[in-house]
Amino acid sequence: MIEKTISDKFFGGGLIINSSDSENIRKLDYDMIVKLFEKNGVILFRGFDIKPEEITELTDLYTEHYAHDALRRASRIGQKLVRTVDYNSHDALLRANKITQKKLHKVDVVKKKDEDWKMDYDNYEEMSLHSEGSYAPDYPEIIWFYCNEFSTNGKGCTTLCDGIKLWDNLSYETKNFFLLNPIRYKLKIPVAEKKIGNGKKKWLLNYQGAGDGLLDLSNGLLNITQIRFAVHPSRLPNKMCFSNHILYRDTDPHILEWGTIDGSKIPQNILDEVKEKSKKLTYDLDWKKNDFVMLDNKRFIHGRRAFKKGDKRDIMIVESSSANFSYGSTTRIKINQNKSITKKS
Ligand SMILES: [Fe+2]
Repeated sequence: MIEKTISDKFFGGGLIINSSDSENIRKLDYDMIVKLFEKNGVILFRGFDIKPEEITELTDLYTEHYAHDALRRASRIGQKLVRTVDYNSHDALLRANKITQKKLHKVDVVKKKDEDWKMDYDNYEEMSLHSEGSYAPDYPEIIWFYCNEFSTNGKGCTTLCDGIKLWDNLSYETKNFFLLNPIRYKLKIPVAEKKIGNGKKKWLLNYQGAGDGLLDLSNGLLNITQIRFAVHPSRLPNKMCFSNHILYRDTDPHILEWGTIDGSKIPQNILDEVKEKSKKLTYDLDWKKNDFVMLDNKRFIHGRRAFKKGDKRDIMIVESSSANFSYGSTTRIKINQNKSITKKS
């Protein structure tokens, strides 16, 4: 395999792993990949022979369990864990999915035949930088992208911005604000497709910062509050990641309102600074067919450039709620690692 950096806009440069001699991606050394991932936060696997139906075989290798994405995305290739990134309208999605109601706290999507799937490209405007599900109780640690098709004349690139580099570039005032103020999101999350009873029921989700859950049995919508800091420790020693949802321009349909925990809005000058500095640190990923990306979702924020109706853009996503290796497992240094041991006489 051949390793190259992606961009100096990322702390450490990010990493491209190119296949050499028809290498099998499944044979890459697990410990090595974990180490490279924790260090770089993003690995782009390029030139490997990966078929769409094999994606979850690969993600299984590094996943403890998967996130339950909301009902906004249709499932793909007959696999409930693989979704498309350019999601359709809610109505189209409801047509595309049937939801099991056995466990209401889990969103589960029944398999759908791939040939039934049609992109309608309702959503083709630029999508601002965000960390996937960073407002939601189940916030994925890793997200995986797979490029099935990308023929857009340079449009529709996925944008990537390293939350470590972004945080390091923010002013004292902005850092001080986000270190002191967690963000409060008021959410309405569809957990079932239709009426499952009458009335409302208190509902607890076992996630830090999630509370006041109220499930409306008449429409399957869960109202819940999520409190979360916009900045958090990275996998690297003494580095923080600014990775969140605060730049998302078009409010996600699940977010009813958001701001500080006392109900105030985030000051506009702070948002402007984040927007301006993230813009300078944004890298445009121009996809090649079969590209496969492993992204540290608690570190990197991502988005999408606009593309035109008719452009062929088919990027799939899998969300790993938790990795099967612990946070910082390869990047934490023993306190005496670089010191010589002195013997007492
Ligand atoms: Fe996203």
